[in-house]
Amino acid sequence: MARPANDGGAADRPSVRILDDVGELAAVAADAFRETIASAPQPRIAVCLSGGSTPLHLYERLLAAGARAWLPWDRVHWFWGDERMVPMTDGRSNAGTAWRTLLAEGPAPAGNVHPIPVSGLEPDEAAARYAAELQAFYGASTLDSTRPLFDLMLLGLGSDGHTASLFPGSAALAERERWVVGVAHAGLAPFVSRVTLTLPALASARETLFLVSGADKREALAGVLAGADRPASRVRSCGRLRWLVDRAAAGADAI
Ligand code: 6PG
Repeated sequence: MARPANDGGAADRPSVRILDDVGELAAVAADAFRETIASAPQPRIAVCLSGGSTPLHLYERLLAAGARAWLPWDRVHWFWGDERMVPMTDGRSNAGTAWRTLLAEGPAPAGNVHPIPVSGLEPDEAAARYAAELQAFYGASTLDSTRPLFDLMLLGLGSDGHTASLFPGSAALAERERWVVGVAHAGLAPFVSRVTLTLPALASARETLFLVSGADKREALAGVLAGADRPASRVRSCGRLRWLVDRAAAGADAI
């Protein structure tokens, strides 16, 4: 199977692993999650979560595998790669969903949870505030590839090839300076405006994991893995970049 080029950092060729189903995918992702946390070089650990439904399987698996006990909740800080402009109580909220399914269970200390602010803000205002929060956490406003912002970056793939809220044809894909931008129109449901990290911010990670499940991703995934220009193909990493995909997404003829 062809693989997407990755010229950012150490991971020249991202690995692709095909798992039988979403349960196995979640189990492998949970192991990778645990290893990344255990090998974090600094006491403070930054994890950037993705939206969508696939990570929920990972969260359930982490809890089933005893994360309440082994995860160093006081050291881990939680961020998001994108957010929908809805309150956290809304079922479409990425931060709300992660809070209810994983973070409240830990529990994660409130000061370690960094949702993208949405309340009463326009997407561009929310983006500027989140960039300021990320920069305060990082301690600089310029990213240094030898000192990644995130220890772990989780990402998903949309059926149109989008990742985070970087949709095909979006101007946000060309952003090179800002870390976070507003997205007035989502390219796919739910059709609410969004806030998304840009490619430079997504690339500032020590370990990047794409989690891809379901037959509706087959065409997009095949395109990405064949090197076609999709938003997800443009993601780089300061370190390792791995694709964990289930057989439904990979297709029956995948190796
Ligand atoms: C979002 C996302 C988005 C998501 C993919 C995959 O907020 O919509 O972060 O990029 O990760 O669409 O979603 P699924 O996991 O539901 O397939």
